[in-house]
Amino acid sequence: MDLGLQGKRAIIVGAARGIGMAVAETLAREGCDLAVTARSEDGVKDAVASLKRYGTSVVGKAVNVKKADDYRAWLDWALDQLGGCDVLIPLSSAGGGMGSEKYWSNAFEVDVMGPVRAVEAVIPAMAEQKSGAIVLVATTSAGEAMGGPQPYNAMKASLVTWGKQLALFHGKDGIRVNIVSPGPVEFEGGNWDMIKGTMEKFYQAQLRQQPTGRLGTPEEVARCIAFLASPAASWCNGSHLVVDGGFTNRTHF
Ligand SMILES: NC(=O)c1ccc[n+]([C@@H]2O[C@H](COP(=O)([O-])OP(=O)(O)OC[C@H]3O[C@@H](n4cnc5c(N)ncnc54)[C@H](OP(=O)(O)O)[C@@H]3O)[C@@H](O)[C@H]2O)c1
Repeated sequence: MDLGLQGKRAIIVGAARGIGMAVAETLAREGCDLAVTARSEDGVKDAVASLKRYGTSVVGKAVNVKKADDYRAWLDWALDQLGGCDVLIPLSSAGGGMGSEKYWSNAFEVDVMGPVRAVEAVIPAMAEQKSGAIVLVATTSAGEAMGGPQPYNAMKASLVTWGKQLALFHGKDGIRVNIVSPGPVEFEGGNWDMIKGTMEKFYQAQLRQQPTGRLGTPEEVARCIAFLASPAASWCNGSHLVVDGGFTNRTHF
């Protein structure tokens, strides 16, 4: 199947490792020009160097999405570098944690306002060209209790609601908005790699809940995100796709 991504311009926020990096690789392989970011300058530099091997134009610069003015300037820069935007995937995350108000403000600033500021920046350009695709990345922990009452889970849940509303509102502008909720995904240096090393019992319990007996890979989630971001998914709008290998213990009506 031709996804129709050749020549599209994509902005990926949170692309230095894990799912974001895998999304960037998938889109570059499909022929997209990319603008990528994360906080770590070395991380972004390495990502850009690695992504360029697919032969498309790739630009990147570090930014912290919590610094609203810097982030808005980065988004303007990315739009300028790419000459517009066809695909937006804002998936930076502050991760989990509970017991302190700082986790609420971090989750709000990074997991919610990270996507909000990016969407606000690209919508005018997408509306003018009457086309665009946005994929928001939530989590299965938004819909199913896991790991205690964490701000991360609640803030990610808000993306599912907001994404649907964006889809309804901007359909008239030719913009599609979909949401992907991954289950646990493991990669070297990622959260589940850390949990495996520090909370062995918890990690083993997650494995037992997986019908396949393993966690997901970034590439398995990235392919689903790339599909929803592509013209091949032209009739998917406001969809919420759970990508978890069957991990969640409920029926997704
Ligand atoms: N891994 C899982 O099991 C899982 C499951 C469900 C949902 N998800 C979601 O999928 C997305 C990707 O998760 P992941 O585990 O693959 O990667 P991750 O370890 O959460 O890293 C996300 C990326 O965002 C960047 N980032 C983090 N904070 C940032 C900030 N304040 N400003 C700019 N960039 C920032 C990170 O690079 P720097 O550290 O250099 O900034 C990194 O490139 C997240 O939204 C996560 O919530 C993941």
